[in-house]
Amino acid sequence: MAVIADRCPHIQVTLVDLNAARIAAWNDPDLANLPVYEPGLGEVVGRCRGRNLHFTTEVDAAIARADMVFLSVNTPTKTRGLGAGQASDLRWIEASARQVAAQATGHTIVVEKSTLPVRTAETIKQILVGSQRLAGGANGAGGARCPEGEPGGPPAKTFSVLSNPEFLAEGTAIRDLEHPDRVLIGGEDPEAIAALSAIYGHWVDPERILHTNLWSSELSKLTANAFLAQRISSINAVGALCEATGADITEVAQAIGADSRIGPKFLAAGPGFGGSCFQKDILNLVYLCRHYGLDAAATYWEQVVAFNSWQQQRIARLVVSRLFGTVSGKRLAVLGFAFKADTNDTRESPAIAICRDLLEEGAHLVIHDQKVATSQITADLGRPPDGSDRGFTEDGSWQQVDTPLEAVTGADAVIVLTEWAAYRTLDWPAIASAMRRPAWLFDVRDITDTAAARQAGLQVWSVGKG
Ligand code: UDX
Repeated sequence: MAVIADRCPHIQVTLVDLNAARIAAWNDPDLANLPVYEPGLGEVVGRCRGRNLHFTTEVDAAIARADMVFLSVNTPTKTRGLGAGQASDLRWIEASARQVAAQATGHTIVVEKSTLPVRTAETIKQILVGSQRLAGGANGAGGARCPEGEPGGPPAKTFSVLSNPEFLAEGTAIRDLEHPDRVLIGGEDPEAIAALSAIYGHWVDPERILHTNLWSSELSKLTANAFLAQRISSINAVGALCEATGADITEVAQAIGADSRIGPKFLAAGPGFGGSCFQKDILNLVYLCRHYGLDAAATYWEQVVAFNSWQQQRIARLVVSRLFGTVSGKRLAVLGFAFKADTNDTRESPAIAICRDLLEEGAHLVIHDQKVATSQITADLGRPPDGSDRGFTEDGSWQQVDTPLEAVTGADAVIVLTEWAAYRTLDWPAIASAMRRPAWLFDVRDITDTAAARQAGLQVWSVGKG
């Protein structure tokens, strides 16, 4: 929305949220305090805020004024009830649709921005169309436009529903939005499609604005994420084999990536994929396949997630086994907690599962991350930090420090879990002399100067290297 406001100064964009603390943070005069860390976002918000980009908790008033409403609420995996563990929890989508239905005036284009299971637009339409009836508007097929109100009465309340999934990746969000590979708009109402296309048309080449039906649009988003996640599981599966056989995953990735049908991107082996999308969307796809009786297809996609969990467990296990089969009471430096670099997001971060496993083994983890707050790590690990480093404990313990050098001081191993740029240029002689010997480097992202680390006397394990 910030990028739309930036590129379309004539459009008033109002972001609404019920969470007052979050809205206050978005309105913080200090752009460094915005609630989401994303390179370039502060500059964009700084240019537009107060001009044509507004943040408010006055949801109803903003809906009433809007010509177009983007539903951008979270759709986590259900934790209980029907479809628990796989299906998306649509309670916030439904609540938002009801609120839009109640508060909208005149004709409103409702855009699904959240990633949703296929055919959710149907639910949204039913809610909106129901409100049209209540408002006295005609009931157009599939929630289509119905321009005539009661003679003499207020103008009819009418809606069009579009699907416009978001393909940006965190850490590169602003760049992805400004130069998208494609913009996808699904829907049936030509005027609504034209209105949304015109917004993107201010900066996106029309050839990159794709139009599909609603269901194709919804399914394309799930499929894109499933394909990308599958690629990560595939490269990690081959990485494990490289380690066993003496091959090198970087060389293999380069060799296969040179095939134009495969392409070079998204072939970095690592601790497995994290983030708010991949696992959730695949599980959603699995649920949909099962729902439609396509069990073999469901099992196929399920395996991508199962393998990802295996990869994370494998990393924790191999750290323990290299450290003589026990990490109890040992100090382990963990470099990186975010699910990827350039974000403070830890949702589904592989670091969570890996650190939990190491804590279970009794390790004392000294965690460094460029952006993740201690409160977030506390929530993710389910326990507060304990900086006292109590020595041998059954339960393990953790603390967070400000620099990699503090993290490694007295440590038996350094484990690189996020590919922050700073970890590429670590001073290995300084690190090695601060560690307890024998000292290990586990480079789970294959980004460090492992030759320098070896030279400095560390034993090195690097993902996908035989
Ligand atoms: C993803 C999709 O890329 C994006 O299109 C969609 O809109 C949202 O989900 P995001 O989760 O922000 O974006 O990050 P992405 O860059 O895709 O990385 C996902 C995970 O895969 C991260 O944990 C990352 O570290 C991992 N990854 C990515 C690898 O392990 N190797 C790679 O080569 C690429």
